[in-house]
Amino acid sequence: MTSATARKRKQIDSSKTMAEQADLHALYQESVQNAEFELDFIEATFKEWCNRKPHSMREDFCGTALSCCEWVTRNDKNTAVGVDFEQSVLDWGKENNVSRLNAEQLSRIELIHDDVLNVNTSKVDLIQAFNFSYWGFKQRSTMLAYFKSLRESLVDDGVLFLDFFGGSECYQTQKEKRKLDGFKYIWEQAEFNALTNELTCHIHFRFPDKSKIREAFTYEWRVWGPAEIRDILAEAGFSKHAIYRQEFDPKTDEALDEYIMTDEGEDYACWLGYIVAQK
Ligand SMILES: C[S@@+](CC[C@H](N)C(=O)[O-])C[C@H]1O[C@@H](n2cnc3c(N)ncnc32)[C@H](O)[C@@H]1O
Repeated sequence: MTSATARKRKQIDSSKTMAEQADLHALYQESVQNAEFELDFIEATFKEWCNRKPHSMREDFCGTALSCCEWVTRNDKNTAVGVDFEQSVLDWGKENNVSRLNAEQLSRIELIHDDVLNVNTSKVDLIQAFNFSYWGFKQRSTMLAYFKSLRESLVDDGVLFLDFFGGSECYQTQKEKRKLDGFKYIWEQAEFNALTNELTCHIHFRFPDKSKIREAFTYEWRVWGPAEIRDILAEAGFSKHAIYRQEFDPKTDEALDEYIMTDEGEDYACWLGYIVAQK
């Protein structure tokens, strides 16, 4: 590159706001994803339930395939299949996450561009569907069909991992801000229908130069309760299911990064959990 071109590029860059230069998927990964923590939970729970190590994983709603990539780097027997119906997000994942794998790891990962409701994959030890994406299915009949197809895609002792959130705050509009390295993450529950439990949420980002990205991501969900989901899992044929709920510090009421299997639903305003179900 000539120095004139370099100068020009620098000029163009400095004329842009931080929001204009930001990479949405990188911001998303940094704000809401912790693949390492989630896979630690999955591995430990699977071992408890099945008395063996899992190796084959399918990640539904895989987005940028961050978790698939982490999975194949953990163990050289691990295989991952990621499914997402948005080609642009899969392409970003290939360019930025999958490209960091070596050739051997690459041979153990497959990304499928399809709707999770239609996709056919070979049987795996475990399926994860995280970040509440399955809440996009608002009809009970659709959820039931989805769970039945997931069950079919698991080996005999295979395990399904779903996440969910609860507490009074999930049934209302609200905003929550978090300061991260170089930007602010804003979670907005913009609309809530108290009759249908339909919730419209947005993720916004703000930057130190005061520029912002409004509605970087939008989700249209039905807030499903864990009891309803367990009923549907049972109807879909899952033999065993349990809730792992986030723990709180008994002194400060602060949410902790610990999840325990429980049916005690102490009424905190907002909490996270996993629903685990075995074929
Ligand atoms: C919130 S992101 C989840 C990304 C990542 N799994 C995570 O845990 O953060 C939701 C992703 O699900 C995809 N998605 C939503 N509905 C889908 C469907 N029915 N089939 C396949 N992908 C779907 C979207 O394209 C998007 O990439």
